[in-house]
Amino acid sequence: MTTSTEEAAATILVSCKQTRFHIENPVYQELDIEGLNITVTSGAGKAGAKPKGKARADGLEILANANLKLKAGVHYALIGRNGTGKSTILKAVAEKLIPGIPIQTRISILQQTASDGSDPVPEATSSLQKLELSSGNQFSVLEEVVDRATSRNEIQREIDVLQKAIENHESALAPLRAFRQVHHDRLKRELFEKDKDARLRSGTRGMAARKALIAFEKLVAESAERLAQKDDEIDEDTIKEETHQASDLLAELQSQLEPGKIADIEVKARSILSGLGFPKANFDKKVSTLSGGWKMRTNLASALLQPTDILILDEPTNFLDLLGIIWLQRFLLQLRETGPNPPTVVLVSHDRDFINTVCQELIILRDHELTYFRGDLTTYDASIRDKKLYLGRMRDAQEKQKAHMQQTIAQNIKQGKAAGDENKLRQAKSRQKKLDNRMGMEKSATGGRFKLNRDLEGYHFTARAGIEVPVDEKGVSILLPEAPDLRFPGPLVSLEKVTFKYPTTKKSVPQPIVLQDVNLTIHTGDRIGVVGLNGSGKSTLIKLLTDTTKPTSGIATRHPRLRMGYYSQHSVEDLQALGRSEPELTALSLLTRDVESALDEGEIRGLLGSLGLPGRTASDVPLTKLSGGQLVRLALARLLWQTPQLLILDEITTHLDFHTVTALADALGSWNGAILVVSHDRFLIRRVVEGERDSEGSEGEGSGEEEEERRRVVYLLKGGTLKVLERGVSGFEESLEKRVEKLIAG
Ligand SMILES: *[C@@H]1O[C@H](CO)[C@@H](O)[C@H](O)[C@H]1NC(C)=O
Ligand SMILES: *[C@@H]1O[C@H](CO)[C@@H](O)[C@H](O)[C@H]1NC(C)=O
Repeated sequence: MTTSTEEAAATILVSCKQTRFHIENPVYQELDIEGLNITVTSGAGKAGAKPKGKARADGLEILANANLKLKAGVHYALIGRNGTGKSTILKAVAEKLIPGIPIQTRISILQQTASDGSDPVPEATSSLQKLELSSGNQFSVLEEVVDRATSRNEIQREIDVLQKAIENHESALAPLRAFRQVHHDRLKRELFEKDKDARLRSGTRGMAARKALIAFEKLVAESAERLAQKDDEIDEDTIKEETHQASDLLAELQSQLEPGKIADIEVKARSILSGLGFPKANFDKKVSTLSGGWKMRTNLASALLQPTDILILDEPTNFLDLLGIIWLQRFLLQLRETGPNPPTVVLVSHDRDFINTVCQELIILRDHELTYFRGDLTTYDASIRDKKLYLGRMRDAQEKQKAHMQQTIAQNIKQGKAAGDENKLRQAKSRQKKLDNRMGMEKSATGGRFKLNRDLEGYHFTARAGIEVPVDEKGVSILLPEAPDLRFPGPLVSLEKVTFKYPTTKKSVPQPIVLQDVNLTIHTGDRIGVVGLNGSGKSTLIKLLTDTTKPTSGIATRHPRLRMGYYSQHSVEDLQALGRSEPELTALSLLTRDVESALDEGEIRGLLGSLGLPGRTASDVPLTKLSGGQLVRLALARLLWQTPQLLILDEITTHLDFHTVTALADALGSWNGAILVVSHDRFLIRRVVEGERDSEGSEGEGSGEEEEERRRVVYLLKGGTLKVLERGVSGFEESLEKRVEKLIAG
């Protein structure tokens, strides 16, 4: 039997200590799983490998002795760098690969699209899921979403089987056969779950699960026997009895599909689909005909509609525009108030504002461990800053104190020696010893003895002897090379009264106008933001700016000496495709090819390094193995080696983790060239275009002083016209919130 478990267990190995949780406890309250290890083995063909500790050696370690704690009803953001295995953890929870998650727990998940390379096991789509996808193909969007939430189709299948048999007047045995078939199919499905369960549990629980499995297998075998029973072996009484049972079951199933119940769910489904941006006309479209983005939205709608105990969302905003994002925020916030047992939500997102709005607590994945923080990203950053400051001060104080004590001891030794005072010498030596031992155990902020583990959770010390101020969580910083001066004055790019429509073939059919009367000028050093919903003409605007399309009317001009760097929203996918067609290609070899000996190897390595692709990451890792975030850095390197004066960045944050988004925003914020950002990421626009700073942060780090006055404008592109947003992205956000209110109200 090939099952999703086997497939998944072949790649994701999980083990853990006994949990406080009991399989016997059918109700999900919270998870508290200790000693959790998750390892991903690369090779296939390991099917049947037991999820035990030993196999860990030859895999990629995601978690080691971690503690997974989920409180009922809390909304969590799982944060951690690209490639640390966030998606793998989510998947392990969703598929209940982690022992200690009760079978009855209902979990629904929106998984990330496979191919973005941001996770070690991108292609580990379960066969179950493939099945769902393929069966979904004949459905319309609405049917698919409702069906997955109600298992309507499964019930309907059973109804069909029973009904056909009961209406069959030629064979008296037909209802009995149908009844046995339905029963048998159900047993087989249950066996599948029990089998998965038994395989995943270890110790006495595993034994119990395996015993239960053996007993259950007997049931299935008996059922198979009954199914195969010959007509003449079945007596009259049995036929009568089971025919009765068949019609009872049919009646019960039909009541489950009562039109009223389904209608309610359908209403909810329609409202979710509308919120995610589906025009009503698309509800009846076949799922198979949809583009990737709309398929993802269909999946998201399904995940949101299902009654569930744990809702897992992996990058849910990736395919949404800002209206969809704001609707989703609202939906998740409302979820907290629904019913007596609102679901726990665990999500991964690169969108800072989204996390801050929706999540109450953070789960931080770092160094194969999970730590927890109550609060949003802003408070988290502030607390890290405070801790760093505190630790820095402590270290200074400690060093001063140590120096002082050292001095006193040295003095005492000197005096002791001079006076021949053995006692004093001994005393001084013992004090020296104490001093050596004691350092690093000074008083904690709360006044007690300083205990590293308690007071500095999440920090890492090389030795007890000294306090090490943690390296910035933002990690690898990004440094952009300076843009050279354009020695001739004038705007870099300008669009004057530009209108664009697609050329018509037939004269009688006027084409809709894509852009109308657009004025846009970009000068040296400007910060321009463009926000707008899907279909507002953004890609056409970019095409005009990058000179890949000519306006229908109006004037588009560019500075003759301008070098422009254009980051397309498909850059990562393009690099991935390139990597697949040339498996040997690395960041270094690609860039070497790009620059055509304009730069030497040292310069290329320097550029890649400053963007966060140092050393062997650049020279030895093939493109297919680079994470989404690393590919974004590479795509930037391919623009920056030409030292452009203008960067046009279209949805650059999609594949980044939020740490990298922050680092990138900071780098762009202080760059001297001009930038035009097209993005749904409110944080990016605020930081880069509006010039918003880390609230209290960055004390003295060159903030303020050398900041020259820049032109900063955020535009809204709507229905082909470009308007200045006087109140910036916040104004846009508010207007969308109002729209969402209206959408929900009616
Ligand atoms: C809307 O735009 C975003 C970002 O440009 C894109 O990822 C998404 O696929 C688009 N959605 C649809 C349904 O076209
Ligand atoms: C663009 O500028 C021209 C003048 O240069 C002006 O007539 C026109 O109204 C402007 N268009 C918009 C949409 O502001």
